[in-house]
Amino acid sequence: MEQAAFTDQQVRSLRSQLLAWFERNARDLPWRRTHDPYRIWVSEVMLQQTRVTAVIDRYTQFIRRFPSLVSLALANEDDVLALWSGLGYYKRARMLHSAAQLLVREHCGSLPKSAVELRRLPGVGDYTAAAIASIAHGEPIAVVDGNVERVLTRLLGLGETMRSPTATRLKEAANRVLDRHAPGLFNQAMMELGATVCLPRVPLCAQCPLQEFCGTRGEHTVRRGKQMLSRKINYALAQKTLGGSGNPAAVLLVQRPKDASQMPGMWELPLLAAGCEAEREPVLRVRHSITNTNYYVAVFAIDAKDSLNFAHSEQPGGRQDWVPGKKLSEIPLTGLARKVLMRLDILPKPKEVRRGKALPGAEDILM
Ligand code: ADE
Repeated sequence: MEQAAFTDQQVRSLRSQLLAWFERNARDLPWRRTHDPYRIWVSEVMLQQTRVTAVIDRYTQFIRRFPSLVSLALANEDDVLALWSGLGYYKRARMLHSAAQLLVREHCGSLPKSAVELRRLPGVGDYTAAAIASIAHGEPIAVVDGNVERVLTRLLGLGETMRSPTATRLKEAANRVLDRHAPGLFNQAMMELGATVCLPRVPLCAQCPLQEFCGTRGEHTVRRGKQMLSRKINYALAQKTLGGSGNPAAVLLVQRPKDASQMPGMWELPLLAAGCEAEREPVLRVRHSITNTNYYVAVFAIDAKDSLNFAHSEQPGGRQDWVPGKKLSEIPLTGLARKVLMRLDILPKPKEVRRGKALPGAEDILM
């Protein structure tokens, strides 16, 4: 089925059915309770390539700390990165920060309204620009992210006629179905449908509000999932009390070099020197996935005074330091370091995790 096969009447019913479904099924997410363009911008940048469950807590803390664009522009980069810890793709945080500074210098501290102008900001691509402009300002422009691509490809049967529908083709299709009277809600409804019903491998067609319009109804070709690589990592955990008993413990951490290609300047646990794991039981095993790699991580407690023998940093130029417990939430930790320190109760868990809600890394298997 091609996009021209939808009559105007069908497109109208599709819109109203999708919006009615969204009204009943929209997840209650913190960025859906605001119309502030700055907050919507922050949420959309965080949501790039990141699951909603991982974003909720980071977004809440980020907004608490930087409630306005000006407060973000005035912050120093390390503080911004510290609050981004766990979300990955740290370049996004740097670009968000530099865009906020640019807007304060050249745009009186406010975000432009149109998608065309938003697109010029660092870190804002077509999809993020369309999301902000439609949700915050009602601009009738369709968002096409990975979820929407999948919904449209199935709905219009595009996967059956083309191996991979072009971006232009998908944008045309998305703008044809877009509800111009409620573009922000409609875009969010399409993304939500892709994220919760029109799932990549096993779509829940019986729950889909667009089933009657769908060109494939689940009978589509499914592309093979990405192949995951595996890597083992052994970390050393050394702790000591600073300045006599009674003071909170400090943890030995390594700062990645400022010119490292990945996560420059961020702090992580030191690697355990080769062979030192022999005959020891790790205090923690955890799996951590980054893009196409599963890291199988084991953490070995070592004596503070042995730290020079056991701990080594693979990255040349990595700087080791004892970081007091109360400073841990203020420095930019890698997501993995943050996860390990939380699991070991060295770093306090956010409230939502304590209450047992699924939050960062909750899908990872503790072995
Ligand atoms: N993914 C990215 N932005 C989103 C939004 N605003 N609603 C639902 N899913 C999203």
